[in-house]
Amino acid sequence: MRRCLLFVVALAFASLPVTAQKLAATPPMGWNSWNWFAGKVTDADIRKAADLIVSSGMRDAGYVYVNIDDTWEGKRDAQGNITTNEKFPDMKALADYVHSKGLKIGIYSSPGPQTCARYEGSFGHEEQDAKTYADWGFDYLKYDLCSYGKNMRDAHPDDIAAQYMMMREAYEKMHQALLKTGRPIVYSFCQYGLDQSWQWAPSVGANLWRTTGDIQANYTSMMRIALSQAGLSKFAGPGHWNDPDMLEVGNGKMNHDENLSHMAMWSMLAAPLIAGNNFTEMNDDVRSILTNKEVIAVNQDKLGKQADRVWAGEETEIWSRPLADGSVAYAIFNLAEGQSAMRGLRLHLKEAGFPSGTAHARDLWAGKDLGVIKDTDVFTIPRHGAVLLKLTK
Ligand code: GLA
Repeated sequence: MRRCLLFVVALAFASLPVTAQKLAATPPMGWNSWNWFAGKVTDADIRKAADLIVSSGMRDAGYVYVNIDDTWEGKRDAQGNITTNEKFPDMKALADYVHSKGLKIGIYSSPGPQTCARYEGSFGHEEQDAKTYADWGFDYLKYDLCSYGKNMRDAHPDDIAAQYMMMREAYEKMHQALLKTGRPIVYSFCQYGLDQSWQWAPSVGANLWRTTGDIQANYTSMMRIALSQAGLSKFAGPGHWNDPDMLEVGNGKMNHDENLSHMAMWSMLAAPLIAGNNFTEMNDDVRSILTNKEVIAVNQDKLGKQADRVWAGEETEIWSRPLADGSVAYAIFNLAEGQSAMRGLRLHLKEAGFPSGTAHARDLWAGKDLGVIKDTDVFTIPRHGAVLLKLTK
């Protein structure tokens, strides 16, 4: 009986209209407070981030969402309305300030009673919270599973399918609450890829859904996440995107080549480009990697077709994605370890739809035409570095 009920509910979700298409027609771009500020973020940090996203040229490069992550929440008032804590004295004023810069603003919550940092979640107050976010003027909601996992396990200790159905229902509940506000709000799922989020998240309103656990600011974590995206391209497209987590470009000890690989991979994956670095310390190298117009154009390509792996060898990865103008974005990664791991890597053009084994190439990082390249050509790539090409026949 329960199985039958689950099937009926699943069918109902599958046939829901996807209202997401108009929002996030290309992968959302912006900045989020978590990767750098984590629990310390304040109103002043968000205002400063908004100022610097404009003055650094990030906004004009396409980064328009300024997103507050966890730890803004206060308690509920007598009517059950969510309030802010002392770090965020006036959310409406903050949203107005961010909007006044030609930007949009995002907020964060959980379907559980508590967020991951143990602040107040939206459980039992979904409609009320969605209305509050809309009244404050928010344009984006990241909805993080967190403590709702316990609700799921408590309700169905031995039935993972029933737990997952509860998860879908919880995300659908907030989806409906957001729709009811009448305000366009990008809906970002954060449940770490559970139950293969890419299979069902778009049917319950997701514009983007996390496909993995949390990224860390190092090459190993970033590349592990990147490579786990192989095979997911068919689930993404305009309005609905796989989210391999926010960018760590400029954070931790990632060097120039590692940051290039990170940005190249996220662009190839049509991943949301949500920067997570501290703008007050952003150097020119990081800024130029984050704002490279030709690389961002790959990420934002209107066709919205995420890259697939073309070829993998020992410590080499080659990925490609078709672009709207008929060309192909083509990325080669050198994963080799060791300080002197500069390597000459062969192309594999035939595997990427160039049967002649030749193509006209443009180097997107350098912004330079390379003329005709051949399969037998060798690209010399530093340890942990990447080459990103635009190929035409
Ligand atoms: C989870 C999410 C992170 C961040 C934190 C906040 O770990 O995956 O991206 O939002 O919660 O507590």
